Amino acid sequence: MKILLTGGAGYIGSHTLIELVKAGHNVVVVDNFVNSQPEALRRVAKIIGHEVPFVEADIRDKEAMERLFTEYQFDAVINFAGLKAVGESVAKPLEYYENNMNGVFVLVDAMRRHGCKSIIFSSSATVYGDPAIIPITEDCPKGQCTNPYGWTKSMLEQVLMDVQKADPTWNVVLLRYFNPIGAHESGLIGENPNGIPNNLMPYITQTAVGIRKELGVFGDDYPTHDGTGVRDYIHVVDLARGHVAALKAIAENKGLAIYNLGTGHGYSVLDVVKAFENVNGLKVPYAIKPRRPGDIATCYCNPAKAKAELGWEAQFGIEEMCRDSWRFQKNNPNGYEL
Ligand code: NAD
Ligand code: WQD
Repeated sequence: MKILLTGGAGYIGSHTLIELVKAGHNVVVVDNFVNSQPEALRRVAKIIGHEVPFVEADIRDKEAMERLFTEYQFDAVINFAGLKAVGESVAKPLEYYENNMNGVFVLVDAMRRHGCKSIIFSSSATVYGDPAIIPITEDCPKGQCTNPYGWTKSMLEQVLMDVQKADPTWNVVLLRYFNPIGAHESGLIGENPNGIPNNLMPYITQTAVGIRKELGVFGDDYPTHDGTGVRDYIHVVDLARGHVAALKAIAENKGLAIYNLGTGHGYSVLDVVKAFENVNGLKVPYAIKPRRPGDIATCYCNPAKAKAELGWEAQFGIEEMCRDSWRFQKNNPNGYEL
C-alpha cells in the first residue's frame, strides 16, 4: 500500500517505518521535528539500506497537506504526529489540544478531499481511565482521563468514529497502545526524550548510564503484588508490527475497528527494575517516593481481539525489552546528538 506516516521520525513512528518497508509498503514520512531529530530518519535509512521520501511539515499546515495529497495517491494514513508528554499537557493544555486535535482535523479534511479514507490512529490505554475491568478488553467502557493529553486521545477517537459513521466508506482503526518500551535490535534507534524523562524505562536507562542519580519509584502502597504500579509493557518493535497487521483491517474494509496493543502481562515498577538489572548485569539505584498524581494501580490488557482478527501478537518479553532499551541508551548516551 502507499502510506503516509505522520510523526515518522518519532519513537514509535521510526520503528513502524522499518516494519512497513520490510513488509513491502511504499511509505512517505511527514514530521515537523517538534519532538524528534532528522538523525532518526538517517539511521532508519542505514537499517533498511535506502532513504524514504520525507516531507518536513506540520500536519496542521493546510497548504502543505494539500500539496502532499496532490503529489501522492495514498491508500492509508498512519497518524503518529502529536504531542505526548502527560505533565507538559497539564501545564500547556491549549497547546496540546491545538496541536493534537487540529492536526487530525486538517489531516482528515485533506484525506477526504483526496478520497483517501483509511486511517490508523495512535490511541492509548489512557482512554480507559482507571479501568473498569482487568485485563482490559476493547469493550471496557472508556473512563475519565486525568490530563489534557489523555483527553485529546479520547476525543480524537470520538471524532474519527463520527467521521466513519457519517461516511461508512471510511476505515478507522483505533490502536490503543499500552506501555511501549525497548528499541530496534541494531541499537541505532530508540526512545530519545527531551529533558527529564516522564516515563519509567527512559528514566531507568538514564539512571543506569549515569545521567540521573537514582530512579524515584512513585508509590509502594498500591494494591499490587509488591505495592508498585503494574503496567503492560510492550516492545516497540512488536507495537510497530501491530500497525502492519492493522492494515489488514483496512484491506478487509472493516469500517471502524478498535484494538488493544499490549502483551497481556502486567509488570510492576520493581519487576521492571529487577528484570533490567538481571538482563544487563547492572544496578539501578532507586528510592521510594510518593505516588504520582493521576497514576492508577494496575493496567494491562487482553490482546485476544488483535490476535483473532489481525493475526498479531507480541513476540518479545520483558527481558528483550530491557536488553534493547539499554543497548540504545548505552550506544547513544546523549540520544541522537552526534
Ligand atoms: P514521539 O514524540 O516520539 O513522536 C511523535 C512525532 O510527531 C514526533 O516526531 C514529532 O516531531 C511529530 N509531531 C508532533 N506534532 C506534529 C505536527 N503537528 N506535525 C508534524 N509532526 C508532528 O512520540 P511517540 O512515542 O512515537 O508516539 C507516537 C504517537 O503514539 C503519539 O501520537 C502518541 O501520543 C501515541 N502514543 C504514544 C505512547 C507512548 O507511550 N510512547 C502511548 C500511547 C500512544
Ligand atoms: C509506568 C509506571 C509510574 C516513572 C504513560 C501515559 C500513557 C501512555 C504511556 C502515551 C507507573 C512508574 C514512572 C518514574 C516510576 N503514553 N514510574 N518512576 O503512566 O503508565 O503511562 O505513558 O499515551 O498515556 O500516561 O507510564 O512510564 O510514566 O509509568 O515509578 O520515574 O512507572 O508510577 O506506575 P504510564 P510511565
